[in-house]
Amino acid sequence: MDAPMNVNREDVIASLGGEAVVQGMDHEARADALEDFMSGKLDAMVAARKRGKALPSVADLADKVDSRGYRRGAGRLFIHERSNQNPDADESGRTVVRLAPMPEKPTLIDFFKLRFPPAAHLLQSARLATKNGLSVEIILACLLHDAGQYLCRADHGYWGAQIVEPYVSERVAFAIKYHQALRFFPDPSVGYEYPENYLVTFGADYVPLPHVQAAYTYARNHKWYMDARMVTTNDLYSFDPNVQVEIDEFTDVIGRHFKQPKEGLGHDNSPVAHMWRTLANPDSPL
Ligand SMILES: [Fe+2]
Ligand SMILES: [Fe+2]
Repeated sequence: MDAPMNVNREDVIASLGGEAVVQGMDHEARADALEDFMSGKLDAMVAARKRGKALPSVADLADKVDSRGYRRGAGRLFIHERSNQNPDADESGRTVVRLAPMPEKPTLIDFFKLRFPPAAHLLQSARLATKNGLSVEIILACLLHDAGQYLCRADHGYWGAQIVEPYVSERVAFAIKYHQALRFFPDPSVGYEYPENYLVTFGADYVPLPHVQAAYTYARNHKWYMDARMVTTNDLYSFDPNVQVEIDEFTDVIGRHFKQPKEGLGHDNSPVAHMWRTLANPDSPL
């Protein structure tokens, strides 16, 4: 199914399930969240239509689930999206890369250099936050905001916040955790719009899951809302491939606001040490 050509609010409500969905919104906050979401998505749909973008539906994307050799929620470190299914699919012949061994006591910077490359999205987001004059904590949150995706893309804000929780301030962890939900909801006060590429990634008629709507409502009313929101406004989706940002640019930010365990990440017996070990050894069969 294709998204309607002339997008209007009624069409979208109808595509969401119409009355059934509206009546299911027993919770006023949920209704507000859905309202914010829909008004933002409508603008994105109009813009995408103007650009002549073909928008898949949720059903179109669901149809493709068993035509891939991997699940879309799998961590980036574990798959190569263009080669796992068919070795001939990618003309460059790329497969997952052979990983260099980690040092005995790996630091966050070691993970950036040896497990996260090219990490352009994280590095460019952090550079943008720096350029925008944001606080050091927000710069760190931007630098780490999608690190959870290396482990697991599904619910990556939660994974991402969890892996760094013992080592960063509560505020940084909050910003990372809630950026995931906030991505779906516009905030015109800071010029944040629903991302057009989400129409393609999730489907034109996609509605965020109830836990995401609830997380948005919670974060929206939280005193640290703007921290998480700033992660979404510096969350770059188009890169300048000619702009090279190195992790060394953030040595000072990390040194001041990331409590590097002296035993090395993965060896400090913290509640998340096993997650860092998994990132260090993604080729381990068990
Ligand atoms: Fe993200
Ligand atoms: Fe991101």
